[in-house]
Amino acid sequence: MLKNKKILVGVTGGISVYKMCTVVRLLKKAGARVRVMMTQSATQFVTPLTFSALSQEEVTVSLWPESNRSTTNLGVKHIDLGLWADVMLIAPATANMIAKIARGIADDVVSSTVLALRCPLLVAPAMDMDMYLNEATQENLTLLLERGCHVLLPVEGELASGLVGPGRLPEPDAIVAFVESIVKKTPRDLQGRKILVTAGPTHEPIDPVRFIGNRSSGKMGFAIANAAAQRGASVTLISGPVALVTPKNVSRIDVETAEQMREAVMIQAKKCDAVIMSAAIADYTPIKRAVNKIKKDDSPTSGLTLELKPTSDILRELGSKKNRAILVGFALETQNELANAKEKLRKKNCDLIVLNSTRDEGSAFGAETNVVTLIGKNGKVEKLSKMPKFDVATEILNRLAKLL
Ligand code: CTP
Repeated sequence: MLKNKKILVGVTGGISVYKMCTVVRLLKKAGARVRVMMTQSATQFVTPLTFSALSQEEVTVSLWPESNRSTTNLGVKHIDLGLWADVMLIAPATANMIAKIARGIADDVVSSTVLALRCPLLVAPAMDMDMYLNEATQENLTLLLERGCHVLLPVEGELASGLVGPGRLPEPDAIVAFVESIVKKTPRDLQGRKILVTAGPTHEPIDPVRFIGNRSSGKMGFAIANAAAQRGASVTLISGPVALVTPKNVSRIDVETAEQMREAVMIQAKKCDAVIMSAAIADYTPIKRAVNKIKKDDSPTSGLTLELKPTSDILRELGSKKNRAILVGFALETQNELANAKEKLRKKNCDLIVLNSTRDEGSAFGAETNVVTLIGKNGKVEKLSKMPKFDVATEILNRLAKLL
């Protein structure tokens, strides 16, 4: 899996830097090409010479050329190495480095490289337990996860401070296995492909303060956009109202209503090789939107009737077009799941349907996991086990890559 893979290792300052010597050796043994960059504080623990000998490559410690007269190193290694890499691993990642990359600070070679990075980023935090559990560190890690970074959690045990708790860098074997698993999930097979993803609910306004919505969190669609971008696709994400951070290297268009979603999809779909419709688009919208807030009628016999009209079925419209992109639809069902999903695939002329049943444990609205069944145009039905949404996205994209 790692043969000829280009792995950029960013080493930052912590007692566990010594473990990275074994990690670099194991990566080399697995056939990977490894380049190491270190922060100044990392060099307090292990010298660049050690990593240079292990990686058989020059180690980068500074943003600046060693000599002002150097014409070979123009001081753009943080860009060049970022472009060179298939994946970048920062391990151990200190609280300081995590804070810097979460907030976009670029004042050393590792953080500067991250800012210009296009490939998947893997981060293995390691620090004292109180630093790790600190709200700021946790918030920064959450931000990185939301942007699509892969985090290898530290393990619990005895720490350099003598305290016992979470904060230890996992053992080298576990780090290499983690790198391998991410490399496997992020093949560059969508390079040069343009993919449109829709996500989230739509809000259909009743009056200036109220709307009809649904419980979609948008997490599945965002995971697909993220996974596709990490496979090299140029991704446009059209999102309804959600509280999610845009994944790295994804271009996002925000919409509110089903009609706005339709307009945006029709413009973008023309430019795309594939469209993945994971948005939960309203099927009905109020006929009239009240200009002012609808006031409450206090009489005991009062009631309010809303008149609704159907929205356009965007997926069906896409499916009816000639020379259409590859279409992946979703089907959210509460009963007769398989039959309903197959009917949607046929009616909307999709190439693949992702079936979600509200009856499956682990597929709740807003959950981090999902349980789906994939149904191909050829009738092939594959029920996948419960897995994180990024992994569900990977499975969907594995099928899509074969259809493109
Ligand atoms: N969809 C769409 N436009 C709509 C409604 C749904 O493009 N106005 C898409 C969804 O994005 C999804 C697929 O159609 O990919 C199926 O959505 P779903 O809500 O499961 O089914 P509906 O077609 O709305 O049918 P029903 O609500 O009766 O199950």
